[in-house]
Amino acid sequence: MTEKISVLISEEDVNKRIQEMADELSKKYEGKTIHLVGILKGSVFFLCELAKRITVPVTLDFMSVSSYGDETSSSGRVKFIKDLDESIEGREVVVVEDILDSGRTLSYVVNILHARGPESLSVITLLDKPDRRVVDVDLDMTGFTIPDKFVVGYGLDYAQKYRNLPYVGVIDFID
Ligand code: IMP
Ligand code: MG
Repeated sequence: MTEKISVLISEEDVNKRIQEMADELSKKYEGKTIHLVGILKGSVFFLCELAKRITVPVTLDFMSVSSYGDETSSSGRVKFIKDLDESIEGREVVVVEDILDSGRTLSYVVNILHARGPESLSVITLLDKPDRRVVDVDLDMTGFTIPDKFVVGYGLDYAQKYRNLPYVGVIDFID
């Protein structure tokens, strides 16, 4: 089977949108420090590009959870793989995710983090596939709402490949 990738959102459009999101965050958190919490590994590219453009102080931490194997559909289970290094108590936490699909991963993460007493907790995602939602998640900011297609690039993978593509592409499987 051959994997064919076509551009869905160009590098230029992704970067432009990330700049807008960073501007909005810098304004919203003026006078404060934003604690960005990235969900490994998919959010890493988005998180770095976002962090570079934020003008208020930023600190970073990462956690790793998994709901996908090497498949293109969710297993329905979320597995905790790596916790944060630092406490989030009293901090202005912004959870950064690559894509919101069924919602299982983010709702799991948000429930855990809420219980740890952050000063505030908001959730942002680069991509949102609302058609596939199973669990509701309150999003504070979304980069792009996309159709129900399996996408790769800008951190998103298929079987750990294509994360390094500088754009968001749709993957098609050809016999
Ligand atoms: P959810 O728990 O179903 O919302 O799934 C979220 C996670 O599944 C994301 O963090 C991604 O790692 C992965 N995922 C969902 N849709 C896609 C996709 O289209 N391409 C690549 N990974 C995806
Ligand atoms: Mg992910």
